[in-house]
Amino acid sequence: MNYYITTFDEKYIEHAEKLFFLLAKHSKYKIIAVSLNFDYISKYDNVICLRCDFDKSSIERNKFIKPIVCEYVLNSFINDNLCYLDADILPLSNCDEIFDNINEILDYPLVARHIYDGIVVHGFDKNYEYNIFSYLNADFSIRKDKFTPYLQTCVFLFNYKCQSIIQKWSSISQDEFLIQNYKKYCHAYDETILNVLLWEKKITNFLEKIHIDLPSSDKFNTFYSIFNHPKEEDVFIPDITRIPKISEINKIKFLHGKISKTDFIVFQQQLISKKYNNMKINHRDILPQLFETLKLKNKGVEVGSYKGFYANQILKDWTGKLFLVDIWRPINISVYNDSSNQFDYEKIIAECCQNIKDNEDRCFMIRSDSQNAAELFEDESLDFVYIDANHKYEYVKQDISLWYPKVRKGGVLAGHDYCNIDWYADKNYTENGKDKHIWTQGSSGKFDNYAGEFGVNPAVDEFCSKNNYILNITDEWFASWYLFKK
Ligand SMILES: C[S@@+](CC[C@H](N)C(=O)[O-])C[C@H]1O[C@@H](n2cnc3c(N)ncnc32)[C@H](O)[C@@H]1O
Repeated sequence: MNYYITTFDEKYIEHAEKLFFLLAKHSKYKIIAVSLNFDYISKYDNVICLRCDFDKSSIERNKFIKPIVCEYVLNSFINDNLCYLDADILPLSNCDEIFDNINEILDYPLVARHIYDGIVVHGFDKNYEYNIFSYLNADFSIRKDKFTPYLQTCVFLFNYKCQSIIQKWSSISQDEFLIQNYKKYCHAYDETILNVLLWEKKITNFLEKIHIDLPSSDKFNTFYSIFNHPKEEDVFIPDITRIPKISEINKIKFLHGKISKTDFIVFQQQLISKKYNNMKINHRDILPQLFETLKLKNKGVEVGSYKGFYANQILKDWTGKLFLVDIWRPINISVYNDSSNQFDYEKIIAECCQNIKDNEDRCFMIRSDSQNAAELFEDESLDFVYIDANHKYEYVKQDISLWYPKVRKGGVLAGHDYCNIDWYADKNYTENGKDKHIWTQGSSGKFDNYAGEFGVNPAVDEFCSKNNYILNITDEWFASWYLFKK
């Protein structure tokens, strides 16, 4: 049987539970979760809980605990294949493929290669590897051999064939002198020790790069958008992150690193949406299904509802309470030069009532301008807001700033009429330098249907760039845009 293993102390529960959650989604195997010096009861069915107690007399000791845990588990799972994962690993949907390598195991664990092979820094006291080699009486010259890649122990595979090296690794990792002087001897704790043991064996088998080390939180969105749309060449994000080129991205099975709660919401929801719809919501009519699938189904607002066409669509596939906000009266043309300006508002309101018919107990029409209506909602109280009122730059910008705070974390801020053109290539702006006059194709085939003044693209782009958001856009010409609130 195949199992994953991880280990964590009380401070790491938050990370470990992300791991359990993702394995429950992506893996058919269970995880042996070894809690250190405390009882852990899991709410996840895929978790086998074990407790391991160790002497906590020095804080440094828990940096060397991994091989001890592996030895401990191996003694009980002697007939099984084990994949160790650090508690701050995020498994991707193809994670179980790691067990395809199981037949490659000889008498040492199969460990993932690090992007940087060399850690050797010149000068005696900084020459970390030299220190540990000499302490273990190992031959330092083997490190110059090109077949000694630096291996990272956040993910590795092992089984009973590796018992003797795991025991040796575990016993050296309990050496009090090394633990107390780890800065000089073991800069990467037990990982440094295992590397020396493997180099001594002149290893020939290891896992190629199957994980990506995550960058710091401020670069997460950059990372994630490139990761989802890989380039022709590898992309480096300083200091430790390398995103493989598109032809190699499928080899990646895990992400490694601590991720904040809010970044995890984005990661998790995009994963779900990826599974649900191949990540691509190509038409706005799919958005309500996405909200429903993501359990964003308490309250939502459409700002600008007109005849209720889109409200009707939302109500078909989404089961929450929908608030429609519209001014439902004419607006001065200097403010709203648009084909949806309601000079015949009574008819439009009647049509909207017709479109929400039979849903009156969960769809509520608020006849108000956007600004006054926003005041009716508490901050972070809405699962989604869809902005489709005045499309001019200033108004879209204002609507985003009015409604963004109303969306709960993990909810969606979205909107209509992000035009599917290279907005910045054509310099044909209106006087304010932000909006454009937009014409659509009429029945004659000519672009003679005046839609109005639009500046959705720059308003949304500026918001995303300022707040470091990944923007998602559907495929229609008048596309919808959406983002998951961090
Ligand atoms: C394009 S229509 C909405 C279409 C609708 N979302 C749909 O897809 O079926 C834009 C609507 O926004 C309303 N509107 C424009 N400015 C507004 C404002 N400041 N506050 C509220 N509604 C506004 C207009 O009255 C109009 O009905």
